[in-house]
Amino acid sequence: MNYRAFGKTGIKVSDLILGTWYLPNSGTNVKPQVDRERSIKLIKKAYDLGINFFDTADVYRGVYDRDNMPGNFETVGLAERILGEALNGYERESFVISTKVMGRTGPLQNDLGLNRKHIRSAIQKSLERLKLDYVDLYLMHAPDGVTGVHESARTMNFLINDGSILHYGLSNFESHDLTEYLSLRYLEKPSFIQDKFNLLERYQEKRNIEVAERNSMASMIYSPLAQGVLAGRYLAHDKDKSRTIYEKNFSTNNLTQQNLEKLQKLGEIAKELGVSMSVVSLAWLIAKGKAIFPIIGSTRMEQLEENVKASDLHLKKDVVDELDMVFTF
Ligand SMILES: NC(=O)c1ccc[n+]([C@@H]2O[C@H](COP(=O)([O-])OP(=O)(O)OC[C@H]3O[C@@H](n4cnc5c(N)ncnc54)[C@H](OP(=O)(O)O)[C@@H]3O)[C@@H](O)[C@H]2O)c1
Repeated sequence: MNYRAFGKTGIKVSDLILGTWYLPNSGTNVKPQVDRERSIKLIKKAYDLGINFFDTADVYRGVYDRDNMPGNFETVGLAERILGEALNGYERESFVISTKVMGRTGPLQNDLGLNRKHIRSAIQKSLERLKLDYVDLYLMHAPDGVTGVHESARTMNFLINDGSILHYGLSNFESHDLTEYLSLRYLEKPSFIQDKFNLLERYQEKRNIEVAERNSMASMIYSPLAQGVLAGRYLAHDKDKSRTIYEKNFSTNNLTQQNLEKLQKLGEIAKELGVSMSVVSLAWLIAKGKAIFPIIGSTRMEQLEENVKASDLHLKKDVVDELDMVFTF
């Protein structure tokens, strides 16, 4: 596993981050519950493989049934709890944690949002669940549409000052919001972003990713494999035990005829390189910028073991260019 500086924060992190949105489930029925034991094994395995960076969020409960939302708050924070349990006992300085705030975590009026009242309470709960004294990287999960930029940024600065977090970042914001945060005066600005970016979904490439690079911010990349599509997960009609079965909102928009042709070409390029489609797709992201870090969402040990190989695949420029051309956006 290779390590790089996380943008201007200077913190050294692994090329790949392990995500906990979908922790492994039991896979035995259509509404599978998070399998705590398998999840802990997977997180520990990632650590053993050299991953020192783990992403979670207060709202993550691993696999859940969206039909029950917003009523079912019992599993809010489950991913944080499991992550805290898995890493408990490891040297605190040997890993980096990012978590997020914004989504609804309870039934009260202020159990959501980027207002100071919610953020101050949310960070305390996240720290308790994660069994940590501080969170390395704290993200605003998405804009809430009401709280002012200065108000949220000042709250984040407050958390930096009181030692609850080291740095803060933005996820799912538009470029103009980023620019607004970056124009703040007399306050520490966000030092990283977290957005969706992969060979098939390149909307942010010339937007947030570029803004981040210009400002020496790091980019955490979510859904780097388009939720498995770029790993070839559905090419063989292999939907068995996949998230398409238990996640009603899973989009199969990526499986258009045109994309299937691109995926076939990706398969050929991977074969020529002697690696899997998922490894090439992740290596392409790593090659895109010195502070771009894919968050892998593996739900099985074999997926994890496969995907970590991307750190050692240094794609040559002509391969990156070819992939760029095949997946023109
Ligand atoms: N900030 C945000 O709003 C936001 C949003 C989404 C995600 N995230 C973060 O980003 C992380 C990753 O997102 P993601 O889960 O969408 O990432 P992803 O890597 O694009 O998708 C992961 C899924 O792809 C399949 N897969 C992965 N490796 C594979 C392999 N080698 N072979 C076959 N299939 C493979 C698995 O699907 P099956 O389980 O179906 O087998 C796996 O669950 C999340 O855990 C979370 O931490 C953040």
